[in-house]
Amino acid sequence: MNTLQRIETILARALGDPEGGLTPPLLARAMNHAVSPGGARVRPRLCLATAAACGHGNMELAFAAASAIELLHCASLVHDDMPCFDNAATRRGRPSVHKVYGEPVALLAGDALIVLAFDLIGRAAARPGQGQKAGAVLRIVAQSVGAPFGIVAGQAWECEPKVDVAMYHRSKTGALFAGAAAAGAAAMGADPERWRPLGAKLGEAYQVADDIGDAVAERDELGKPAHQDEALGRPNAVRELGLDGALARLRSLAQAAVEAIPDCPGAADLQAIILGESKRLVPRSLAVRAA
Ligand code: IPE
Ligand code: IPE
Ligand code: MG
Ligand code: MG
Repeated sequence: MNTLQRIETILARALGDPEGGLTPPLLARAMNHAVSPGGARVRPRLCLATAAACGHGNMELAFAAASAIELLHCASLVHDDMPCFDNAATRRGRPSVHKVYGEPVALLAGDALIVLAFDLIGRAAARPGQGQKAGAVLRIVAQSVGAPFGIVAGQAWECEPKVDVAMYHRSKTGALFAGAAAAGAAAMGADPERWRPLGAKLGEAYQVADDIGDAVAERDELGKPAHQDEALGRPNAVRELGLDGALARLRSLAQAAVEAIPDCPGAADLQAIILGESKRLVPRSLAVRAA
């Protein structure tokens, strides 16, 4: 079983059968809708590539951390799409969770996914010899999604009259990427701080690419609504730097992410993920201009 298949198996097992379990059926279906079929699963891939680069020991905790991070990401998208945030009707080419199941169930599905994420790490922590490493992973993951520097804080900046854009982007998107790289290292007993800068740079690049997509994509190209940043008055790299400036920024951030890879045997795999992502994220119509 390859890495991605193993992640899908862990996620499916954690969610359980939406039709046969004890969870209220609408909530169970909404949780499944939020998680699968998934998107690019880039955060768990980064977490596991980092873990693999740090050692070849037992990867169970790293897989739990990677899966938890994906559940938290999916939860953040469910809440982000709700009418009180971005009011987005589609996600990953399908109706968003609140469009199918209604707002109360969508809110609860996001909540339940957040709790399930921490439960996954808790279960891995209970395995012999994993407790101390799991404690470190737990703190890294919690800080990546909470306040003052995680996703919750990032989303909350949208409610403030004055926003530090760098802080907004770093919290909203960068923190979970930085946390994914750091958690992968911590799960293997390595120093998480050595790996955090790689995740932070990749997260920043990801946000710039998302901004470019939002500004220029065709209507159905993203699987989610385009041109939202302008409509919602959100900061956007294309508006700040122009299209060519934003593409140049994306290239330089991808390069900075590659340069932030610590010296290790798995460096080539990590480099391939970073360069692959920075190409994948540029809308098809701009691929030549970005090269
Ligand atoms: C979308 O993240 C939200 C951002 C932070 C830009 P992804 O582009 O990773 O979403 P999926 O999981 O692949 O759909
Ligand atoms: C959402 O940012 C990032 C989250 C933390 C949920 P956006 O609102 O820019 O992401 P999309 O464009 O909806 O995926
Ligand atoms: Mg948003
Ligand atoms: Mg959004």
